[in-house]
Amino acid sequence: MKVLVVGSGGREHALAWKLAQSPNVSHLYALPGNAGSAHVAECVLGNVMDINAVADFAEREKVDLTVVGPESPLISGMVDEFERRGLKIFGPSKEAARIEGSKAFAKRLMLDNGIPTGLCEIFDDPDKATAYIDSVANKSTDPIVVKADGEAAGKGVFVCPTKEEAINAVNTIMRDRLFGASGDTIVIEDYLDGPEATFMCFVDGEDFSPMVPSQDHKRAYDNDEGPNTGGMGCYAPVPVFGHDIRATVVDTIVRPTLKSLSKLGIHYKGVLYVGLALTSKGPKVVEFNCRFGDPETQVVLPLMDGDLAEICLAVAEGKLDGMSIDWLDRKAVCVVMASGGYPGEYEKGKIITGIEEAEATGAIVFHAGTEIKDGKLVTSGGRVLGVTGIGDTFAEAIDLAYTGVSKICFDRAHYRRDIARRVVS
Ligand code: GLY
Repeated sequence: MKVLVVGSGGREHALAWKLAQSPNVSHLYALPGNAGSAHVAECVLGNVMDINAVADFAEREKVDLTVVGPESPLISGMVDEFERRGLKIFGPSKEAARIEGSKAFAKRLMLDNGIPTGLCEIFDDPDKATAYIDSVANKSTDPIVVKADGEAAGKGVFVCPTKEEAINAVNTIMRDRLFGASGDTIVIEDYLDGPEATFMCFVDGEDFSPMVPSQDHKRAYDNDEGPNTGGMGCYAPVPVFGHDIRATVVDTIVRPTLKSLSKLGIHYKGVLYVGLALTSKGPKVVEFNCRFGDPETQVVLPLMDGDLAEICLAVAEGKLDGMSIDWLDRKAVCVVMASGGYPGEYEKGKIITGIEEAEATGAIVFHAGTEIKDGKLVTSGGRVLGVTGIGDTFAEAIDLAYTGVSKICFDRAHYRRDIARRVVS
């Protein structure tokens, strides 16, 4: 089968890496991919947001299955266009992808159906939002969470310790329009305290198959300090996410969410990413995403003991029911190496050395922002590489990931030194 992976990050390299191991995959394309995916796939130039051009490519090359990495093409209707042309594709439709594309849609779905999440109010008027912040700040000292409704490249969520910061966030989103029309509506919600975890499931309507839970490290610096990023590293599984919590999440969140979507006539297909806070009152949803997490995919897929192509095809064909997926009883840790300055401004074009030495240690090196320029491997993005170690214990996995990192050099490389340390200390 010919398979196409859409996207260019570490997540998409991990998807291509896993799909390339399938005996069912005869040819793999990555559009556009990166310097790492080029080792396992044929990279094809293209813009993931040019939905017709991507579908034209899949039609012309007789691609049997397309797997979409990033949310933007899903939210813009890539799946709808492929299905209109009779092409098989793994991912939710435009309507289903609203679970990530509109925070207000996701919140209403949860609150209307008793799915545990932080209480919230939704506003399309900044004056009313500001008055609401005034009233809640007088009742509680908890941080206030302000979210732009629509897509904001992961930057539209503000966790505000003070009333003034919350009002600034409203102004940034609604008056300064930092995220354009994505800020026409905002969601102001209660802060959820407790460790966070990511629980992703393969989904086909109301049938689903969970993946191992993982935990991301979103802040830029050690000890969870500094600005939020796309994710600086992660680990899987999550020791605090035991069998009881998993059963609660499945019964009170995953199943009712899919049922509620069904009631709205939405047949959700692809990955449902459930971002959770494990609060003292039980697990609650922080956010839903309509795709694989990044970097979570870089620890979850190496623990999958199965054929990703077979599973994605089953989902695309509506045949997930009854399929079982095995997971290795091992630990995985991924350390993200980023460009100096990320998530703020950073330079590109820094020469990267030591990848082969890192791989020789047994670590898996997933590329994110890399490209070949004048025959040399150079940086081309904020998050550059994800170095994953697998072990029988977290100590082994951490050691392997950091041994891999120690072999890799590029000017102003930045990475956290404490990924997964909390599970061994
Ligand atoms: N790592 C967070 C995300 O994928 O949204």
